[in-house]
Amino acid sequence: MRTVREATDSDRDLLVRLFISEIEDDIDLAKNFASDLLRFRTILCLDEGNVIGTVSWDIRGGLDDGVIELIGLGVNPEYRRQGIAKKLVQTLIHDASVHYSSRNHKLRVIYLFMEKENEGGRAFYRSIGFKEMADVPDLYPHDDAAIWTLHL
Ligand SMILES: CC(C)(COP(=O)(O)OP(=O)(O)OC[C@H]1O[C@@H](n2cnc3c(N)ncnc32)[C@H](O)[C@@H]1OP(=O)(O)O)[C@@H](O)C(=O)NCCC(=O)NCCS
Repeated sequence: MRTVREATDSDRDLLVRLFISEIEDDIDLAKNFASDLLRFRTILCLDEGNVIGTVSWDIRGGLDDGVIELIGLGVNPEYRRQGIAKKLVQTLIHDASVHYSSRNHKLRVIYLFMEKENEGGRAFYRSIGFKEMADVPDLYPHDDAAIWTLHL
């Protein structure tokens, strides 16, 4: 069964295992990865208890700005094109909107930085209404970045 929910500290081992099996077999890097995701607000998609997708976000500026950054989004290659990333971002928008409205403010803008040469990412963000706004040369070691925004 698939579930989408916010990550908590009790997911730390799950995130370490995700990094080791999908990204790199290095326990120190895996622990850093898990700590980063838990430091931000992270939403997980699980299939039979395994993490198959994640997205993280964090508040930028004051609450009255209404701005958040979408920090990282990834779906296990075996599960792509099944609407999982779309569901993760929809959940992010819902959770962040509730975070703002429960404090009498409004979520207005989501932005993200993405590697410029990422055609899959570009097609995905375009399909859910984000707009490519500007380039940032050399932001990444091997690529320029593009800034994408969604004004709600
Ligand atoms: C980009 C990524 C997150 C998309 O995840 P996903 O779960 O496959 O996306 P969805 O199934 O929700 O896609 C929704 C729509 O986006 C578009 N889309 C998604 N991936 C696409 C691709 N590779 N090529 C073209 N269109 C794509 C399609 O319109 C798709 O709808 P459709 O399948 O009905 O045609 C995934 O490919 C991934 O993890 N890539 C590596 C990491 C990355 O690039 N992250 C984004 C930058 S941070």
